Amino acid sequence: MANQNIIIALSKGRIFKDTLPLLAHVGIIPQDDPETTRKLILDTNHPHIKLLILRASDVPTYVQYGAADLGVAGKDVLMEHGGEGLFELLDLNIARCRLMVAGRPDAMLKAGRLRVATKYTHSAECYFAEQGRQIELIKLYGSMELAPLVDLADCIVDVVDTGNTLRANGLEPLLPIADISSRLIVNRAAQKLKHHVIADLVKQLDRYLQAGAPQ
Ligand code: ATP
Ligand code: PRP
Repeated sequence: MANQNIIIALSKGRIFKDTLPLLAHVGIIPQDDPETTRKLILDTNHPHIKLLILRASDVPTYVQYGAADLGVAGKDVLMEHGGEGLFELLDLNIARCRLMVAGRPDAMLKAGRLRVATKYTHSAECYFAEQGRQIELIKLYGSMELAPLVDLADCIVDVVDTGNTLRANGLEPLLPIADISSRLIVNRAAQKLKHHVIADLVKQLDRYLQAGAPQ
């Protein structure tokens, strides 16, 4: 790998865990585990490659402003961010889930304006506008499933994987909005100035993914 500095933005939890084998495949090994260290900049076995550990929803912002060259972010987060100044280099096919409208089975039967609780306000707004449905948005930052249970909202927009969280709270998936997986993103400057290193990395990852990387 060339000697240009490369900074990669990741979030801890499922994205870090699922990105680790991909990084290992291209020979990048973090020197710390973000679940146990308090460090936010992790060294790797490469002196020129560092990892930033961020909130998942902040990854596009760090890459957009050039504080990181590359990042791994869910398509849900990218849709919400808007993608300005960013390019999606690869679908990493990790952290797969679906962005959905969910609620009690009869939630969509309500006449008039729907109250929608979500942290995905931009995606929810676009989706219901396309459907021609008037909504009132209630911005939340987590535990969206609670909102219909206490009549804060008629329905929610959130990511669903197994559906266990919805079921455990007496809710159902109602309408699909988008299939979600995590993407490798880059900003314009890094794409231009660090093209060779990044293109090499992408080529290796792409080959690995095409060959059916273990999930
Ligand atoms: P933030 O901390 O910024 O609010 P978050 O808590 O949603 O973000 P994670 O739970 O680590 O962050 O999720 C990271 C990404 O993983 C999400 O953006 C989404 O693309 C995907 N994801 C979220 N929940 C699931 C799930 N249950 N199964 C599979 N993938 C998921
Ligand atoms: C996500 C999402 C749902 C749940 C869906 O929460 O916000 O609550 O996963 O997954 P399921 O369909 O398999 O139950 P997460 O586990 O990331 O918790 P957090 O967002 O509150 O951190």
